Order: sequence, then C-alpha cells, then structure tokens
Amino acid sequence: MTLSLQKNDTELLRPRSADLYRRAQQVMPGGNSRVTIFFPPHPPYADHGSGCRITDVDGVERIDFVNNYSSLIHGHCPPAIVEAVRRQVGDLFAVGLPTESEIDLAELITGRVASIEHIRFANSGTEGVMFAVKAARAFTGRPKIAKIEGAFHGSYDPSETSLASTPENWGGIDRPAAVALCHGTPASSLADTVVIPHNNVEVSRRLLREAGEQLAGVLIDPLPSRLHFMGTSPEFLAMLREETERLGALLIFDEVYSFRLGFGGAQEALGIRPDLTALGKIIGGGMPVGAVGGRADVMRVFVEGGPKLVHGGTYNANPVTMVAGRTAMEMLDREAFARLERLGDRLRAGMAEILARRGIAGTVRGQGSLASIRFSDKPANDYRDIVTDGADMELAARLHRGLLDSGIFCTSTLLFILSTPMDEAVIDTALERIDAVLAA
Ligand SMILES: Cc1ncc(COP(=O)(O)O)c(C=O)c1O
Repeated sequence: MTLSLQKNDTELLRPRSADLYRRAQQVMPGGNSRVTIFFPPHPPYADHGSGCRITDVDGVERIDFVNNYSSLIHGHCPPAIVEAVRRQVGDLFAVGLPTESEIDLAELITGRVASIEHIRFANSGTEGVMFAVKAARAFTGRPKIAKIEGAFHGSYDPSETSLASTPENWGGIDRPAAVALCHGTPASSLADTVVIPHNNVEVSRRLLREAGEQLAGVLIDPLPSRLHFMGTSPEFLAMLREETERLGALLIFDEVYSFRLGFGGAQEALGIRPDLTALGKIIGGGMPVGAVGGRADVMRVFVEGGPKLVHGGTYNANPVTMVAGRTAMEMLDREAFARLERLGDRLRAGMAEILARRGIAGTVRGQGSLASIRFSDKPANDYRDIVTDGADMELAARLHRGLLDSGIFCTSTLLFILSTPMDEAVIDTALERIDAVLAA
C-alpha cells in the first residue's frame, strides 16, 4: 500500500493523469469543468468502466463508490442500457419534434410516484430544481423561496444561497443570514430567499410565518448530501407540510439525489406528499437529465394563460436520455431497492464496527444505498453542527487517499454511493480496505 505518497510520488506513479492535468490547466480555469470532482493534487483521469469498476488512464482499476455522484445506480455501461442507447442513436439523437420515448418515461414515473401527476423533463438536476422554484412562483404569484442552510440544490441563485456560509457571516441561528455563494449575486435574490435551519421546527416555523403571503415555496432535500446524509426529522417534515398548506405556499421536494432511496423515492418512505418534486440523476439512466413533476393543477403553469411559465430546452426529453432512463428505471423494481438497502446496511454497520473497534471518533450516516463517514462523534442536527464539529479532516484526507491507492474510489468527503452490480463481496472488500488504511 502507498499511504505515504507525496505529490511527486503520486505523479510518478500516475504519469498519464498528471500529464492530462497539466494539459487541462492550459485551456480550462482550474483544469476542469466541474468543481465537485477535484481533489489535490489532481484526480486520476478516467478511461473506461464496467459494472462497479472503473479504470483510469494509467491502468489502475478501482471499485467505484462515487457512481458519478449517484446518477449511475446500475454502475458503468450496464448492457441493457448500452443496448437501448445504441439502438436509439442509430435512429435519432435529439430532434425538433416530440417522441414517444418521452411519454414512456413520463408514464413510468407518474405511475410510480403518487405526488407526481404530471412531469416535464430538462437536462440537469439544477434545471429540475430551477423549474420547480419557477413553477412555485408562477403558481402562487409570490417571490420568496425558503431553503435549508447548507443544503445543496445545484447552481441557481436561490437554491445555492447559504450553501457554504461560515460562522463569520451566517448570523444568529434564530435568523440565519442569506449568504451568496458566488460573488456578484444580486441582493434581490438574497432578499427573496428565506434560509431556515435544518430540523429546527420552532425557528423555521416562525421564519416561514414571517414570510407569510410572500412565500411561494419551501425547498427541501430529505437526505442532504452536504449535511453528510443527516436525516430530516418527521416533526420537521410535518411542520413544513402543515405550514406550506396554511400559508398557501408549495412544498418542493428536491429528490435529485434521494430518489435512489426507494421505488417511490424518499417521499414514499417518509409518507409525505409534496406539491412539486425535482428529479435528475438516476431517472436518466446515466445520461444528462432533470425533471420537475407534481400536482396537475400546479403543473398547468407550463400551459396556462400564455403560458405562465415558459419552458424550452434544445435537449429536453431527448430520446437517448429518455430510453436510457426508462431502461434504468425498469431495472429498479422494489426488490432491487431492497437489495441495495441490505448492501447499504452491511456497509454502514461494518464502518461503525471498524470505528468502534479502533477507538476512532467518528459517525456513520446514510440510508438505503448511501453511506458517509465523518471523523467526529459530536451529535449533529444541522449544518452549523457539521461545520463546527471539529472533525479530523486530516484523517479524512488520509482515508480518501489511502482508499484511492488501494483500489476504492469514494468522494473526497467520504460519501459512499452504491450501485446494483455490487454484492456482499464488494462491500466486504471496501470494509477490509477501510480497516487497513485506518490501521496504518
Ligand atoms: C439534491 C441535489 N439537487 C440538485 C442537484 C443538481 O443536479 P445536477 O448536478 O444534475 O445539476 C444535485 C447534484 O448533485 C443534488 O444533489
């Protein structure tokens, strides 16, 4: 094992990735197009994948626990999806006409999720969330959107507000400040974003009521990845449902990530019926996708009066994505989700056992096919608790690096995302490697 690799050693061992990174920096700021996938000194460059394994350009194979940040629920190049896509690209890529493939996927999703009576497709989760926010505004005629402090919802002004606020700028917990993620964000956008603390029923209820008739909707991811898959309490969800109804605002579930938690998404498992749901990731079968769905009367904003909300997009519902998505979703029956959950339970239990046996302060979180390790055992209930938990980030970086060098690829924040080609042996291999790195 090569745990003590320094930057230059790593470059010697991975010369092709290092070369590509040098080349990339000449033509792209930061050397890439996606901030989330970077870790120092640079990530390995991927070459090909099959099932739950990926191989980089230097010929190193790893078990992939990133799965493109959860979109690849069937791993890499699943034969049924490859075949469906291959057939489709021989007929049509994208076209300035509707196709039957869009109706097929819409029927599948509306048939599975009780709250999604009607749906429209886009090309990313960011767009799915953006159109859900716009639909809530168009339906209610109100400007304000509430979102959870620290929760990630893609790259759109209201949804990225207070994604990375800090003790220096986040204000009191009784009224979290709306903090811009990016320089130059208009103050008007911040003024129309109500930031509420995760799981804090009392404060959030008060802030929603203060927004009152200005409030168009509340945006919530029931298992936020940036909060290390910290669950949302039933009391908090019940309060959001109750207050949105009372105020005439809409409850918007962002299930771009959490839709992989079950056959009817997280909302089915939680027994909550949102008014709108943003989707992405797994519903595209690995191809770029986003969607917004929900109550038929709300979704009429896309057609009514002119319409109230104009929704175009050159690649919306392109048939390649639609057939890939339908094939992927058909492979996900209830048994597939139950199996993923059993694998997730095995991984989470094994991680917790390793931390306990080695006397390492840490917390394992997650549900279904999602797991995360954080090297702090302080109880955490919201974003601020995570930021101030004093987690051992050096140990986290060492585990990430050690796993990378011993054939396991997880995110640099130690999220582990499962795929259906994995089995017990794969989970046990990951646990053995985690144990070995932590022993060193
Ligand atoms: C909860 C959530 N919402 C929205 C998004 C944005 O999706 P995309 O990256 O497809 O734009 C993500 C992406 O990870 C997400 O996790």
